[in-house]
Amino acid sequence: MTAKRWFVFVLSLGLAMGFALAQGVTITIACGAVGQELELCKEETAAWAAKTGNKVTVLETPQLTNDRQGFYQQQLAAGSSDIDIYQIDVIYPGTLANFMIDLKPYVSADELKVQNQGIIANNTVGGKLVAMPWFTDGGVLYYRTDLMKKYGVAVPKTWSELFAAAKKIQDGERKAGKKDFYGFVFQGNAYEGLTCDALEWIASSGGGTIIDASGKVTINNAKAAAILDLVASQIKLVSPPAVTTYDEEKARGVFQSGNAAFMRNWPYAYSLGNQEGSAVKGKIGVAPLPAGPGGSNVGTLGGWQLAVSKFSKNPKVAADLVRYLTGREVQKERAIKGSFQPTIPDLYKDADVLKAVPFFKDLAGRQPVARPSTVTGPKYGEVSAAFWSAVHDVLSGKSKAAAALAALEKKLNQIKGSGW
Ligand code: GLC
Repeated sequence: MTAKRWFVFVLSLGLAMGFALAQGVTITIACGAVGQELELCKEETAAWAAKTGNKVTVLETPQLTNDRQGFYQQQLAAGSSDIDIYQIDVIYPGTLANFMIDLKPYVSADELKVQNQGIIANNTVGGKLVAMPWFTDGGVLYYRTDLMKKYGVAVPKTWSELFAAAKKIQDGERKAGKKDFYGFVFQGNAYEGLTCDALEWIASSGGGTIIDASGKVTINNAKAAAILDLVASQIKLVSPPAVTTYDEEKARGVFQSGNAAFMRNWPYAYSLGNQEGSAVKGKIGVAPLPAGPGGSNVGTLGGWQLAVSKFSKNPKVAADLVRYLTGREVQKERAIKGSFQPTIPDLYKDADVLKAVPFFKDLAGRQPVARPSTVTGPKYGEVSAAFWSAVHDVLSGKSKAAAALAALEKKLNQIKGSGW
């Protein structure tokens, strides 16, 4: 090409691009809908749209992660280009990798460097960066600071201490006329949330991680059985009978209306619990989850990422929105407004963030326990469903833990077949 032609070519390309940008495109993002998620997603994407001249449609997705995953898989299996960006759970990069573009060419080395490298590794499948980390999660124990004082109870360090403290406070509050008051609420419904809670009980009791890093099924052990039976024995005693139908939001509803002494939940519940109108505003303490006998306290690793569909008609623009949402500025805002845990480690030292969510400073060095999603890859969904239904049978009194775990071990080995 001659210099003149080259000039004309570049000029017309520039004009075409300018025209395209001025026109703007519409990007559709599938966002979570738990607590403040949807509202924040709308605000943040609108800010990006105003900056870039594009439009964004925010799609509300099912609340439970496993239902959301089912919906995603339907869309993707059909090759639908309706959704450009998917908010995906930390357990799903292995399952969804083939449907997403590699984000590496779209993000700078600096943008990658500031992120939590463990999550980047989790999101990298076969060398491909399937998704950018948006927020991380870790299970924590919420407690009522006022009631701990009133009943002279210390923050429990073991599960037995927790159940004893829960009983003491519950008895006192019921005597004082609060008939619907309970000691401890958590996620006991048969779904992914129960997998997270039960993994915490078991891992913190030295009972392993269901399947170990080498792929061996380890769940059928005495420590795991003992803690499951112990938790089951507390239902009706300190946990409501309906806890076997609770997800995150139901547990939060009970705690936030002032009807529970302790709650297991993710950090997002902190900001909502301290909002105007909450019965427990200013009365919320947050601590690590308890440990079992001889074990150590751990919270399950959760969290969400943003991925661009390989069927998107505008992958470049979609990737730009992903970069914006997962960048420092938006992560900081989400930490302050919604107590969503940043995936940029540096933000755990940010004064504004720590002022809004003081307990974040304790989370920085904590070692979470991961679900076995990397080792089981695309079979994780099946593995988790088998696990949570066995645990649910124990919680609802259908089975004793030893029998349930022996059957679960067989089932998991069947799912494994000749390998993961
Ligand atoms: C939270 C976690 C996610 C987990 C889910 C279970 O959203 O971030 O990783 O799978 O809870 O309900």
